[in-house]
Amino acid sequence: MRVLGIETSCDETGVAVFDVEAGLLGHCVHSQIDLHAAYGGVVPELASRDHIRRLPALVRQALAEAGCGLSDIDAIAYTAGPGLAGALLVGASYAEALGMSLGVPVLPVHHLEGHLLSPLLSADPPEFPFVALLVSGGHTQLMQVTGVGEYVLLGESLDDAAGEAFDKTAKLIGLGYPGGPQLAQLAERGRPGRFRLPRPMLKSGDLDFSFSGLKTAVLNVVSASDWNSGDAGDLAADFQEAVVEVLCAKALKALELTGLSRLVVAGGVGANRHLRHRLDSATRRKGWRVYYPEPELCTDNGAMIAFAGAQRLVAGEAAGQGGAVRIHPRWPLATLRAPGAA
Ligand code: KG4
Ligand code: ZN
Repeated sequence: MRVLGIETSCDETGVAVFDVEAGLLGHCVHSQIDLHAAYGGVVPELASRDHIRRLPALVRQALAEAGCGLSDIDAIAYTAGPGLAGALLVGASYAEALGMSLGVPVLPVHHLEGHLLSPLLSADPPEFPFVALLVSGGHTQLMQVTGVGEYVLLGESLDDAAGEAFDKTAKLIGLGYPGGPQLAQLAERGRPGRFRLPRPMLKSGDLDFSFSGLKTAVLNVVSASDWNSGDAGDLAADFQEAVVEVLCAKALKALELTGLSRLVVAGGVGANRHLRHRLDSATRRKGWRVYYPEPELCTDNGAMIAFAGAQRLVAGEAAGQGGAVRIHPRWPLATLRAPGAA
């Protein structure tokens, strides 16, 4: 079975072709960073229009990479949510219309399920069950995963997501969009420990997170009369250290509580080198193991959507025949069911 995957939930247009026997055959992403940079964040209407502009060419490119044509596609999977409503509508309409014209099944896919399963696309994939730490721009969640669609929420952020905190803090420090990777880069040149930022909810006894207070603590530092912008590197390092310490402590606690030994880290913040380093060394000491997606599949892409769709279709999930545009801008991951489950 060969699945075309389409991702348009935010500011990346992603298209990929995944073959159940042969693996990932083609995959291309267009990032809208340049488009939104002038505004300091994603402008939803511009995002939707750009998805419309890019999608047809990206589909042609992914098919060319895969060495096949539309007639070789057996099914289409698209991101139906969560995400920006207008942006989701572009991918959903395109996928449903294309599916109807080709006469192939069309499956709406949960964006976070795509992220969560993306490490299974790597050369050395994890086996079920595992704990997943989902750290994206919109979500910070710990999930117990026993199979495709079998997700139990262990804890989540009560306010800002980790990526959102990175982005907002980057803005406070005077960095551009997208802030997360820039802040991480700046932090590598700084020394943590000077600003004594808080570790929110580190000792809360549960697996929930809170990052908005951390952002406020940074605001207080940069608003003080003695703030010197030359110290931005040290502040970035302190902020990164605080986020990483809390994420790491709670992920370890989740492994301990569930008795599992595999941790999967997915979503954009999973690309953070400091987080990876900390998680790797802390789990190694316990004989546990951390799995990540391939670097190019950490941020949004069509491959993870094609893959998640393929897993569900192979397991017998019923798909539509195109034409019914389905989007869910808000869609809790734990409400998903295993393919075939009532
Ligand atoms: O998963 P993703 O591409 O999109 C969403 O589904 O949200 O995640 C994007 C988020 C952004 O907040 C971005 O700043 C953050 O991931 N991010 C990072 C790094 N790379 C991306 N945050 C910290 N360090 C990084 N290296
Ligand atoms: Zn994402």
